[in-house]
Amino acid sequence: MKKILIAGNWKMNTILPEAINLSKSIVEGIKGTDLKVQILICPPFVNLIPVYDIIKGSPIKLGAQNCHYADKGAYTGEISVPMLANVPCSHIIIGHSERRKYFSEIDDILNKKLKAVLNANITPVFCIGETLEDRQNGYAFKIIEWQLKEGLKEISNEDIEKIVIAYEPIWAIGTGIAATTEQIAEAHSFIRNILLKMIGKQAKNMLILYGGSVDATNSQSILEIPDVNGALIGGASLKANTFLSIINTAQNLV
Ligand code: PGA
Repeated sequence: MKKILIAGNWKMNTILPEAINLSKSIVEGIKGTDLKVQILICPPFVNLIPVYDIIKGSPIKLGAQNCHYADKGAYTGEISVPMLANVPCSHIIIGHSERRKYFSEIDDILNKKLKAVLNANITPVFCIGETLEDRQNGYAFKIIEWQLKEGLKEISNEDIEKIVIAYEPIWAIGTGIAATTEQIAEAHSFIRNILLKMIGKQAKNMLILYGGSVDATNSQSILEIPDVNGALIGGASLKANTFLSIINTAQNLV
């Protein structure tokens, strides 16, 4: 049976009452459902604990959007993995392209973050993906391979297997134009093959999500692609009805 994870990345959206309403609507929306897919929501840091109070007891998992790699110390404005573990968060997004672009998070920093997250037994959702320029110049696959190899450097095979990979072509994020199913299928099978070479057949169990303008209208064709194990959803995860509709689509595919 295909494993599917539907993850909502709320980014820097939702003040507290909005986060409460959105999470309540999602909990209500799945009540009584025999859930066969995993659901993850990633609110902003300040809303993690109140959202946790709403989703606890439900199958919905809670994730953070970023973390620091040090356990504690003089890093003004940062949030550590132990703080997030204590919420508790089960997942942390690492290396989202917006972090790479606006906050200069380079491969080496992301590698440190991945290690810190794995060390705390939290599941990283590790984002990779090329820019439009990379794709137009024919470098998309070189970039993907580089990000994977550098990000996963010196991490044991056993730990790599626990990581959720999110392929998010940057040109498809927030643009309303998702990659085509052919482009997604090609990239996901390329990523799966790299992972197979890195850690062997255990890589077949790894979840590889697609992200970039996933919505209720395209989710079925994307989630049907063999090497796609779910979606990382930005804009469409902020509307409960749309997010629930994508979950419903995924439910029908497993
Ligand atoms: P989007 O964002 O669904 O709004 O394109 C996806 C993401 O950045 O994770």
